[in-house]
Amino acid sequence: MTSQDSLKRDAAAKALEFVRPGMKLGLGTGSTAEAFVDLLAPLVRDGLDVTGVATSERTALKARALGIALDELDRLAPLDLTVDGADEADHSLDLIKGAGAALLREKIVAASSREMIVIADESKLVAQLGKFALPVEIIPFGQATTLARIARACAALGYRDVKATLRRKDGALVRTDSGNLVCDCAFGAIKDAAALGAALSAVTGVVEHGLFIGIATMLIIAHPGRVEIIRRTG
Ligand code: 5RP
Repeated sequence: MTSQDSLKRDAAAKALEFVRPGMKLGLGTGSTAEAFVDLLAPLVRDGLDVTGVATSERTALKARALGIALDELDRLAPLDLTVDGADEADHSLDLIKGAGAALLREKIVAASSREMIVIADESKLVAQLGKFALPVEIIPFGQATTLARIARACAALGYRDVKATLRRKDGALVRTDSGNLVCDCAFGAIKDAAALGAALSAVTGVVEHGLFIGIATMLIIAHPGRVEIIRRTG
């Protein structure tokens, strides 16, 4: 296990302390969220009664294989708690998510939860969002026109020459679990995440963007030898 993997595990282990019997849990996507699922599974085998809602097919497969009961969001909502990772998190608990192409379901599940705990190693905690290219999920139809509208919306906010690149894997366009595409928008630095999020949401052809603003209620950040908890205030 790399030292980064062990930090992810430390953050995941701390999040487990907030899980109570009978909870309805949103299960995030990505390596850190999977560390949480790995640690939750033995507790479930020992009788902890929780039901999960997976934020991706990948997480659903893993949770089922480990014996964690899953159900549909619409049957369980509102959820008690969602535990998920992030690509970047700032001290206001605003996030960039979507490197795993699961941002849409992740946001729906988190928005349907009373609490969202974000778990991450210290490399994800940043002073300002935007170094990590922002994932934006778009409809495949008319994709080039949507990319052009995204670029115009960004330019109107002062972000000139933002590169919006359709994500590919092994040469093929990446499809989300909902059959959409993902474009990654390189901002460098995001000055006003709320304004950018609102502008992107208004672009025709955009399904969802990876800015999670005002959703997370707690960050659990693992540093070597200690775990930091940052709570939402107000
Ligand atoms: C997936 C996500 C992940 O939570 C994010 O990419 C972090 O992943 P990891 O824990 O593997 O670094 O948003 O869409």
